[in-house]
Amino acid sequence: MKVLVTGGAGYIGSHTVVELQEKGFEVVIVDNLSNSYKEVVRNIERITGKLPELEVFDLCDRNKTMDFFRRHNDIIGVIHFAAYKAVGESVKKPLKYYRNNIGSLVNILEGMKENNIRSFVFSSSCTVYGQPDHLPVAEDAPVRKAMSPYGNTKQISEEIITDTVEANPHMKGILLRYFNPIGAHESALIGELPLGVPDNLVPFITQTAIGIRDKLSVFGDDYNTPDGTAIRDYIHVVDLAKAHVISLNRMINDQDKTKPEIFNLGTGIGYSVLEAVKTFEKVAQQPLNYQVVDRRPGDVEKVWADTSLANSELGWKAERNLEEMMRSAWNWEKELANKR
Ligand code: NAD
Ligand code: WQD
Repeated sequence: MKVLVTGGAGYIGSHTVVELQEKGFEVVIVDNLSNSYKEVVRNIERITGKLPELEVFDLCDRNKTMDFFRRHNDIIGVIHFAAYKAVGESVKKPLKYYRNNIGSLVNILEGMKENNIRSFVFSSSCTVYGQPDHLPVAEDAPVRKAMSPYGNTKQISEEIITDTVEANPHMKGILLRYFNPIGAHESALIGELPLGVPDNLVPFITQTAIGIRDKLSVFGDDYNTPDGTAIRDYIHVVDLAKAHVISLNRMINDQDKTKPEIFNLGTGIGYSVLEAVKTFEKVAQQPLNYQVVDRRPGDVEKVWADTSLANSELGWKAERNLEEMMRSAWNWEKELANKR
C-alpha cells in the first residue's frame, strides 16, 4: 500500500517514513528540501533497508501537485507534514507562512479529492490551545486566538480539513495535535536539523553542550510553577511517528466518521525547563552552561496533554521517557559533530 508523506525529508516526517516502512507501507515523499536534505532518504534506507521514493517540488505549485497525484494513482493515504514552522519568523513574515502552509494544504486536498484518496493525517499542534484553563488539556478544550501567524495556520488548516471531510463523505481525516516533539532515532542516522540558531529548547541544549553555543538562556523563572520555569509535555519523536501509522491504519480500516478525529499526542507529563536541563546533564554526564533571562514573549506558562483519548481510541501510548529523549537527542548531536 502506497502512502504519500509530504515533508518526509524533515524531522518528524523522516521518523514517520521509517515507521511506515517497518509496517510494510511503500512510501513516496514529496519535499522541496526548503528545510531538509535529500541525503535523508539514504539514511532512512540504512535504517530500514528500503529507499523511499523522493520527489522534489513545491506543494504550493498546483500543477505539479495535481500531476503528481495523477502519476501516483495507487496512493491510498496522505500524511501531511510539509509546512514552515518557525514561530518567530511567522510574526515577521506572515504571508510567507499563509501562502506555504495554507496553499500547499489546499492543493493536496484537491489532489486527493480528484483521485479519490480517502485518508488524510495532519500535523497540528498544542499551540491551538494557548494557555488552557484546565490541565491536563483535552481535545475538547477551546481553541484560543493564535499567538502567531504560524499557530493561526494550524487553526485555519484544521478548519479547512474539517470542512473538506464534512463535504466529501468518502474522505477521512485525523488531526494530530503534537505537544513538544524532541529526540532522534536510536540509530542516530536521522534527527532534527535546525537551520541557524535554534528556537527550540532541546536543540539549543545539545548545541550548547557540544560547544556551538556559549550558553542556554532559560526564558523566565518567575512563572507560577514549582521551580518558576515554564512547563511542557515533551514527547519522543519515534513515539510520535508511530501514532501516525496507527492513525492511517485506523482510516484504512474504515473509520466511520463524518468529521476529522482529533488526538493529543504527548506523554501526559509536564516537565519544567530546569527539569529538562537536569535530565540532559544526567544523561550527558556533563554540566550545562545556562543563565536565567527574561520571559520570552508569547510563551505560555504551562501545558501538558490529557492523552486518554489517544490511549483508548488509537490504542497508542508514548513509551519513551525524558531520559531516553535527551539521550537520543545528545547522540544525534554528537553524530552531527563527527560529520562536521
Ligand atoms: P521540518 O521543517 O523538519 O519538516 C517539514 C518539511 O516540509 C521540510 O523537509 C521542508 O523542506 C518541507 N516543506 C515545507 N514546505 C514545503 C512545500 N511547500 N512543499 C514541499 N515541501 C515542503 O518540520 P517538522 O518539525 O518535521 O514538522 C513537521 C510538521 O509538524 C509541520 O507541519 C509542523 O508545523 C508540525 N509540528 C511540528 C512541531 C515541532 O515542534 N517540530 C510541533 C507541532 C507541529
Ligand atoms: C520549550 C520551553 C521556552 C528555548 C514551540 C512552538 C509550538 C510547537 C513546538 C510547532 C519553553 C523554553 C526554549 C530556549 C528556553 N511547534 N526555552 N530557552 O515554545 O513550547 O513550542 O515548539 O508547532 O508551536 O511554539 O517549544 O522548545 O521553543 O520551548 O528557556 O533557548 O523551553 O521558554 O518554556 P514551545 P520550545
